[in-house]
Amino acid sequence: MAATAPVVEFENVTVRFDRGAHFPSEVLDQVSFRLSEGETKVLFGAAGSGKSVLMKTALGLVTPDAGVVRLFGRDLAGLSEDQMFPLRLRAGMVFQEGALFDSLTVGENVAYIFQEDRALPEDEERRRVEEALSFVELDGRAGDMPSELSGGMRRRVAIARAFVGGPPLMLYDSPTAGLDPVTAHHIMQLVVKLRDSQRVTALLVTHRLQDAHVLAHSRFDAATGRVESSEHSDAATNFLVLREGSVVFEGGERELFAARDSYVRKFIE
Ligand SMILES: Nc1ncnc2c1ncn2[C@@H]1O[C@H](COP(=O)(O)OP(=O)(O)O)[C@@H](O)[C@H]1O
Ligand SMILES: [Mg+2]
Repeated sequence: MAATAPVVEFENVTVRFDRGAHFPSEVLDQVSFRLSEGETKVLFGAAGSGKSVLMKTALGLVTPDAGVVRLFGRDLAGLSEDQMFPLRLRAGMVFQEGALFDSLTVGENVAYIFQEDRALPEDEERRRVEEALSFVELDGRAGDMPSELSGGMRRRVAIARAFVGGPPLMLYDSPTAGLDPVTAHHIMQLVVKLRDSQRVTALLVTHRLQDAHVLAHSRFDAATGRVESSEHSDAATNFLVLREGSVVFEGGERELFAARDSYVRKFIE
């Protein structure tokens, strides 16, 4: 049972915030979806449609007013922070804008989760940090301050920080927002590399169709160490479209391109 449980499952999840008289209080309105092991789900939606709240709800950082959220098969309702903690360690979150600690070095940023989870000896922590920085092609930059890095490099540090503990699930909130196309492409290649070399399941917010295209049409080749493009669409790349807190589309690339709904079509045209 546990082996086949979805990695993330929402069942009729509603989240309400008081947003004043002009907006409905439902930020998520009866949202249901499943993220299966090995799947990458791309989350599209206009600004304010609830994408970031959905991600925080998946991690138990926002508590739903109704419905059920399961993370790795565990119902999050009623779990204490202590019970939630090991589940969160298995989910690497790349927050919107990267959100690095500016007063910590790159290495200290990446090592941050080890402060809370002292399970590893210190030299093993250091090795993992170096490995994670090398994975995102920032070898030797552990001593730099975030302010010394470009926007794309900062985003890569945020990915390394989320990934350093080797979580089976990654949540990427707009990892390419505000980046130029070349840098954005590089970030998406890292996402593909993580997916294919570490078998990471992922939920990824973007407003760029090009990002989804990279996910669906590239593979990391372990033999060459490169991300190669392929004509075949990867069946494990799926799409979820949110509109004002409601799911208006869930399906694969082919169904997405065949969708008639004008709101859904905005993301593919
Ligand atoms: N903590 C909060 N309190 C009140 N309203 C919030 C809170 N967090 C988000 N919202 C509102 O919920 C809606 C969805 O926000 P968000 O998930 O951040 O949108 P996006 O799709 O752009 O990521 C927005 O109207 C936002 O203002
Ligand atoms: Mg957001």
